[in-house]
Amino acid sequence: MKLKIASFTAVVMMVVLCILDVFIYFTLQTHLANLQMGNMNNTSVSAADYVERVLTDGGSLRTGSDYRWLDRFLREGQEIYVLGPDGKVRGRTGANLLKTVAPPVDVESGVQQGHLTVHGASIMYSVTPIVDDDSARIIGYVELLSDTASEKDYMRLLVTVLVIGSFGAVLLTALGGYVISAAATRPLKRMMITVGRIEANRLHERVPLPRRRDEVAALSQAFNRMLGRIERSFEQQSQFVADASHEIRTPLTIIQGYANLLKRWGKSDPNVLEQGLLVIENESRRLRTLADDLLTLAGMEASVNDEPHVVDVDEVIAETIETLAPLYPERTIQSFLGGAEVAMAPSHFRRLCTNLLDNALKYTPQGQEVNVRTSVDGRVVQLEFEDTGAGIPEDALPHIFERFYRVEKSRDRKGGGTGLGLAIVKELIDLYGGTIGVHSTLAQGTTFTVRLPRVRERPGKTQE
Ligand SMILES: Nc1ncnc2c1ncn2[C@@H]1O[C@H](COP(=O)(O)OP(=O)(O)OP(=O)(O)O)[C@@H](O)[C@H]1O
Ligand SMILES: [Mg+2]
Repeated sequence: MKLKIASFTAVVMMVVLCILDVFIYFTLQTHLANLQMGNMNNTSVSAADYVERVLTDGGSLRTGSDYRWLDRFLREGQEIYVLGPDGKVRGRTGANLLKTVAPPVDVESGVQQGHLTVHGASIMYSVTPIVDDDSARIIGYVELLSDTASEKDYMRLLVTVLVIGSFGAVLLTALGGYVISAAATRPLKRMMITVGRIEANRLHERVPLPRRRDEVAALSQAFNRMLGRIERSFEQQSQFVADASHEIRTPLTIIQGYANLLKRWGKSDPNVLEQGLLVIENESRRLRTLADDLLTLAGMEASVNDEPHVVDVDEVIAETIETLAPLYPERTIQSFLGGAEVAMAPSHFRRLCTNLLDNALKYTPQGQEVNVRTSVDGRVVQLEFEDTGAGIPEDALPHIFERFYRVEKSRDRKGGGTGLGLAIVKELIDLYGGTIGVHSTLAQGTTFTVRLPRVRERPGKTQE
């Protein structure tokens, strides 16, 4: 990863620098050539002026002169020719650039500057006509020639500087890319180490948060939150298993105790026999209920799709009341039914009503009343289970939907349940996207309000 980023940035930098270098090279080369040519033009104009003043004789070039004193116009590597009006050489001085080649001059077209190559060497030239002051006639030409050695030196230096500079820049970029990506991936690496360390029994570990508030920090935080959730659900899971085993063990211990008792005394004492069988029967029933509840909790999701999702609310409520009423005599049960259908598997809805109504009756003393109301509110069916019983203390309210939670911890073994009823209700409601609320006042009563999605199509045709 680090190497990849480093080499990628280096390659990008290299391409950019190559383009830039080529651009700089050619721009400077052209600029330099133009500058040189401009200088040569100026020099040759001055030289022509000088020749006109010094070397003319009655309107024409003097012959056989010594041209060495034109040297004052020359730099190293330059040569000057004085040509007649016909372009023929009259004299020369300076470096011997052209050797045996004739100096180029076009007496007709008037092209007066350019490049030529002599024996592989590049030479620039600039021609200026010598104009006689009096007659204004062209009486000859001055031709200045120059080699390009100094430009070449200059360009060579430039290339060296550009290559070294670019190479250095690419190297620095690669190094910088490596260092930066190393710094950027360090927190990820730390995270990887932590993640590698985490196992089921080390869920309390957290990824260290980087000091800066950036994407990596956000990722670390999200990861820590996820770990928190997993840790909590692991804890709940093991708590659940512990509670379940405890719930199972208690009736089993009782059954075992009474079985021993029966073995020893049961055959001779009919009282012991009677009581033992009764207890064993009760405890077995409790175990059965518990097993049913646990199975319901475990298999709730799996069974969602088995049945058609439509239930006549009032019908099920009436049935539930009918079933439970004889178990809790001397409590008045009133129902106010609004007629609706909810989108829910019937067995699940029946379970929900039974659990809530059972609580309302169980925690309401004899002589008091329990009211059940159903109504329709737009797309929602609302159910209310209201009792006038003991109520739930405020500090217990947040926990009543937890598995195995009971307000009266030391319940009497006859009336008390296992504390799974409301947990099942809550999970069922969550499963179908409904809500449940509870309002309770101690010694006055409790109301559970359930809202569930309603079936809107006509009965018989509905199936979701
Ligand atoms: N209507 C109510 N009035 C007063 N207390 C209630 C009412 N409903 C529930 N509770 C309290 O909430 C606790 C949890 O209820 P839940 O139905 O989950 O368990 P349970 O009734 O004890 O056992 P189970 O329903 O599994 O037989 C109960 O133990 C009870 O203390
Ligand atoms: Mg209950």
